[in-house]
Amino acid sequence: MRIGVLGGTGPAGSALASRLGSVGVEVVVGSRLQERADETVRGILGRWPGRHLALTAGTNQVAAGCPVVVVATPWEGALPTVKALSGELAGKTVVSMVNAMARWGERFVPLLPPTGSVAAALATALPASRVVGAFHHLPAGPLGDLDQELSADVMVFSDHRAATEEVVGLVERVPGLRGVDVGGLGSALAVEALTAALVEVNRRYKAHASVKVTGIG
Ligand SMILES: NC(=O)c1ccc[n+]([C@@H]2O[C@H](COP(=O)([O-])OP(=O)(O)OC[C@H]3O[C@@H](n4cnc5c(N)ncnc54)[C@H](OP(=O)(O)O)[C@@H]3O)[C@@H](O)[C@H]2O)c1
Repeated sequence: MRIGVLGGTGPAGSALASRLGSVGVEVVVGSRLQERADETVRGILGRWPGRHLALTAGTNQVAAGCPVVVVATPWEGALPTVKALSGELAGKTVVSMVNAMARWGERFVPLLPPTGSVAAALATALPASRVVGAFHHLPAGPLGDLDQELSADVMVFSDHRAATEEVVGLVERVPGLRGVDVGGLGSALAVEALTAALVEVNRRYKAHASVKVTGIG
């Protein structure tokens, strides 16, 4: 499997790229600037010298050429980014890990996009792509620390059944992660908004909390 990460130079995208690269997924770390992608890949490879990580660097346009493309930009950049690449993204599975949040004093609070969720906005902008939501609740620190074992569920949602299954399969290539199908894009608002609560948990407990769904075997 080959995946591209738009905004792969940030903590979230580079952590996901590292983790997926460590389990043999080929990842193109994308950026608006080739040099930033180069620097990010050099940084990851330098951090993990003994490991074979299947990472390459490219522009977001190159990353968008992969069959599965993850959007890992801040929420305000997600829509313009995918709109500019809608041609490249047509026919692809586009995975949003984007959360819309704002700082309110010391706290983080979820924002309600006019479309109801970031993923719904992306799906509207990309009618020829299969938009899936996943990875919203995995903090970048442990995700990118390949010495840390993970133990978390990843809520996956999409209106495209086959794309949900494809992304659950991608999630479960990573030891310790389980993909949980939480339904269609109607679940996006709840999943995205929950992240702000997790950030508050992390702030209060000085932790890197994620989620586990119980009772489903
Ligand atoms: N951080 C986490 O622990 C975490 C965990 C799960 C999900 N998420 C979600 O993942 C997304 C990325 O998080 P992050 O912390 O990595 O964010 P970030 O560092 O603020 O941004 C990630 C990358 O996006 C690109 N970017 C920045 N502003 C942009 C804009 N206006 N338009 C297009 N591209 C832009 C930049 O890459 P270039 O300059 O190289 O293009 C940047 O390195 C967010 O939506 C966040 O909610 C984060």
